[in-house]
Amino acid sequence: MTMTDGSFAREPNKAKACFDSIYTEPDPREYHRVLGGLNYVIPDLAKDIFRQLIAALEQLRGRPIKVLDLGCSYGNNAALIRFPLEFARLQQRYMALQSRDISTSELLSLDHHFFQSWPRQDLTIVGCDVSRPAVAYARAVGLIDDGITQDLEQEPLIQANKNALQGVDLIISTGAIGYVTERTLSRLLRAIGEPAPWLAAFVLRMFPYDTISGVLDEYGHVTEKASGVTFVQRRFQSEQEFLSVLSQLEALGIDSRNKEMDGLLHSELFLSRPPEDCDELPIEGLASVSSGICLPYGPRFRLGDDHIVRLSP
Ligand SMILES: C[S@@+](CC[C@H](N)C(=O)[O-])C[C@H]1O[C@@H](n2cnc3c(N)ncnc32)[C@H](O)[C@@H]1O
Repeated sequence: MTMTDGSFAREPNKAKACFDSIYTEPDPREYHRVLGGLNYVIPDLAKDIFRQLIAALEQLRGRPIKVLDLGCSYGNNAALIRFPLEFARLQQRYMALQSRDISTSELLSLDHHFFQSWPRQDLTIVGCDVSRPAVAYARAVGLIDDGITQDLEQEPLIQANKNALQGVDLIISTGAIGYVTERTLSRLLRAIGEPAPWLAAFVLRMFPYDTISGVLDEYGHVTEKASGVTFVQRRFQSEQEFLSVLSQLEALGIDSRNKEMDGLLHSELFLSRPPEDCDELPIEGLASVSSGICLPYGPRFRLGDDHIVRLSP
């Protein structure tokens, strides 16, 4: 087993395989080779819900909004929210570009043009991740508007980063809670100030969320869990990871039958916001899930935001 294929492990993620080395490559190719190879799918499952939350907040605020992607890596969520893309399609792109002899700076230039080739929605996305190379890449290709690379588990925010956080309306996160705890959240929320942003986090079932929701309580937020639905994150990387996660879930009293026992890591969606927003926009309407939409269907009609009907494969 090599480091890039996942090795074990460190607190607090000790049951999970460790992928640290692929997070800090100068470009996203290793990230997509390794995590794409494990059918990492959570950004795809999250993107429609993030889009629904963004649309709801835009309507509520009556203006374009500012989003903070916590654990943004190479800007994957930003890419999927902004553009008509799927994670698997990005993976295919990076796999194709991997087989040829393309340097990071050439890839960066190609990606910059690729992401510029779609019309842009009026939306600001700030990325926060301890990986400087990943945040630098996301920023250089135009996926995020600003980036924070401090480890907020360990150190307080510097003033320039506090400035970058001003006016954040929504914090989103996939695959990062566990690395990121209430320590980071407290620092971010203190810097953002009032009104505290909404927080939408997809969290593996092995990570208790009560300490994070406790921080949100201090801001008067209510934290709801989307009920009756879990979201696949990826396949297990090894039998060792599989067995350690199952035993961690068992220790937490979580039933893994029909979920992790079938070989896939599952996340849950937690949404924190002011109680009045919960009354006005119930979570069931905002985080609606349509089962079966990811299956490989034949060509189908789609109505775009521009009200043009297109037949797409
Ligand atoms: C599994 S990746 C998820 C990336 C992205 N959200 C996605 O779903 O594709 C986990 C990310 O958390 C980041 N991370 C680890 N520790 C962190 C910390 N203390 N603060 C912020 N990000 C952290 C890693 O660098 C990595 O990019």
